[in-house]
Parts: sequence; structure tokens; C-alpha cells
Amino acid sequence: MTVLRQLVYRSRTTHKDAFQQIEQIEADSEAFNSRYNITGLLLTDGEYFFQVIEGPGEHVQALFEKLKSDPRHNNIVKICDHPVFQRDFGAWNLRTLTLKSDRSCYWLPDDIYLKRDSQVYGLINSFANGRWRGCLPEHHRIGLHRSISTTGLSATRDEQSPYQFAFQPIIDTHLGTISSIEALLRDNTGRYPEQILTDLSRSKRYEFDLTSKQYAIAMASELLSSNQSLSINLLPGALTQFSDASDYLLSYLEQFSMKPQQLIVEVTENEIINEGDAFMRAVETLRSKGIRVAMDDFGSGYAGLSVLADFLPDKIKLDRAIACNIHEHGPRQAIVHAVMEFATTLGIPLIVEGIEKMDEWYWLQHIGIQKFQGFLFARPELCGVSAINFQT
Ligand SMILES: Cc1cc2nc3c(=O)[nH]c(=O)nc-3n(C[C@H](O)[C@H](O)[C@H](O)COP(=O)(O)O)c2cc1C
Repeated sequence: MTVLRQLVYRSRTTHKDAFQQIEQIEADSEAFNSRYNITGLLLTDGEYFFQVIEGPGEHVQALFEKLKSDPRHNNIVKICDHPVFQRDFGAWNLRTLTLKSDRSCYWLPDDIYLKRDSQVYGLINSFANGRWRGCLPEHHRIGLHRSISTTGLSATRDEQSPYQFAFQPIIDTHLGTISSIEALLRDNTGRYPEQILTDLSRSKRYEFDLTSKQYAIAMASELLSSNQSLSINLLPGALTQFSDASDYLLSYLEQFSMKPQQLIVEVTENEIINEGDAFMRAVETLRSKGIRVAMDDFGSGYAGLSVLADFLPDKIKLDRAIACNIHEHGPRQAIVHAVMEFATTLGIPLIVEGIEKMDEWYWLQHIGIQKFQGFLFARPELCGVSAINFQT
């Protein structure tokens, strides 16, 4: 049985006036939509298009692929794409509507009946209210002249150590500087922290997690200038099990002439909720000594906003899964807008991890994010920081 799907996207006209294009688009759609049983709605305000496409899944997908290469529009952002029980616009192969700016409130003609609590009604309303009408204009993109160019650095490697650290920079593309570097644990066969840590018993794991940071701090002290910071990952258990964990960290910092203000401890949201009050007390202790705390991989776990509200980190690092293809993914954009609103209101800087594409960076910096980490800028480098050559 073919599954009925509904796909919604918004795009921006490449012409001066989308009102003038709409008749031609309707004519171009006729044959395909009636042949493949596609129905839907196309709405424009003269600059943006908002389209609902419904029909058998494979034909909806085929049409969307075709649409993506139509030169009459660009900045295509998919808002949703899911199976539906029945069509909302079954009476029309492509119903077109224009949304004139001189109308004070949005209206739908009487022959279109949509339940007020349906998602599609909500989406049309949000488009009409301007939510999906906003994107990076071409001239702004061209006007961006950010470039960062730095040489690579190496730290003294302890050949006897069974584990090493790789370092990856966090870039402030607004200032054109490296603001901090993150130390990432690797063993001598290149294994990642999860694998290294799970080999150890619980108490050994926490002890190793904490004490291994001495080596990370030693190397970082050779890689950082005094206005840059080091981010380290710590299991909250390492902070709660050892009441003097913050003193250990302070003594390592002192040993390698780094200030407490240069250290940022990153913890993930899932780990935090398992630790509860003891963790919150450990964070207070760190902060009282000048060490900052960041929430890592935010958006990847199940703890979410309530932990964020209780914990109020000094920095929020948005998970790479949220950054992935954000420029064409409506729901992720909505999440980033919401987190950005939260972070801005509370004065917490936001860092986005996992940036791999220029388009992802364009979109994120356009909404006001300044700090990024990802392969687009630099890959992690064992016992050093790789050179950066970032040109827009
Ligand atoms: C905003 C917009 C909406 C469109 N909607 C449809 C549609 O619903 N169905 C369709 O067949 N073509 C639609 N088109 C046109 C297609 O992109 C394409 O030009 C048309 O299907 C003819 O493709 P063909 O020459 O490969 O047959 C739309 C184009 C634009 C710019």
C-alpha cells in the first residue's frame, strides 16, 4: 500500500516579483501533479514561497527533488515531511494563494477548511506571521569578508604516556580569532574517550578522567596565549566522587602557569541529570575558584531545558547533529532560534559544534552566532593545533 505523505517547505524567489511567477508555476505543475496524484497549496508573499505537497510518498519525493533544481527559487528549507492519514488540499492539484503585505491579518478562503489545531494550519499561520520569511540575502553573503589564518602549533609529547590528547580550536568568526581549544582524549591506537573510559572500572574511570587532565593542561600551556582558554571534558562523577577535584585542577593549572579563568570544564546534559545536587555543588565550587563550566553536546540528550535552567552554564555547546545541514532544515532552525533566544536572554555564549559546510556557517552566523568548532575550520590534531586557513 502506498503511504500518503505531506511535505512542507519554504523558498525564496530568484525573480523580483513572485506574484508574477505564480501563474506560470501553476501551468508547469498541471501535468505532473495530476498524473502522479499530487495535491497541495502554494502560497507567496511576493518574495517567499511556502508550499504544501501531498501524495504518494515516492512521487512527493520525486517532485521535491525536481523543485530543488528549479532556478526560479533558492534558499529552500524543508519544514516537515511525514506520512498523513488524509489530504488537506485534496480538491486541488495545486491551489495557489497570494499573501499581500497590505493585509493586516491573514485569511484563508472559505473553500479551504483546515482544523485550527492542525499542524498545517499552524504552519500557514506562522508563515503568514513572518516566521519562515527571512534568510541570508545573496548580497550579504558576498559582503562577508571573514578570514582566519593561523599557523599550526605542536606541544611536547610524552612518548611514555599510554594516552594522548588531540586539540581542536573553537573559532570566533566575528572577531577572527581562536577563543579556545578543546582537549580530546585519544589512546595510542587512536581510540576515542568512550572506548578508553569504558575499559576501566567505575572508580578508576573517574580517577583517570580527572588525573589525565594534568597532561592536557601541560600541553595546552604550550599552545595557548594568555587570552585563550582550554576546554576539557569531565564526567560529572569525577567531580562528585572527589571532593577535592577542583583543587587538583587548580594545582595542575598552577604547575603550568595557567589561570583558573583559562579553564572550561565541559559536561554533557545526560551525565548531569544522573548526578543531581552533588554535581550542582561541585559546579559552585569550580565557579568560586574561577573555573567555568559549559554544557556540552546540548540537544543530543534527553535532559533538555529543565537541566539547562537549573544549571545555567557559562557556555552552551550545541550538538553537531543540530548543525548538520541547518541551512535547509526547518525544525533544526526553529530549535536553534529557541536556544539562541534563551542563551541571549541569560547572557550565555553559544558555541556550535560540528560545522562542516560553509552554508551551515553562513546560516548560523547570520542569526548572530559567533563561535564555532568543526572540520570546516580545523580538525583535531594530536598533541598540537592544526593550521587554520578560513576564507569566505
Ligand atoms: C515555487 C515553485 C513551486 C512549484 N511547484 C510545482 C508542483 O507542485 N508540481 C510540479 O510539477 N512542478 C512544480 N514546480 C515547477 C517544477 O520545478 C518544474 O519546473 C516543473 O515540474 C517542470 O519540470 P520538468 O521540465 O522537469 O518537467 C514549481 C516551481 C516553483 C518555483
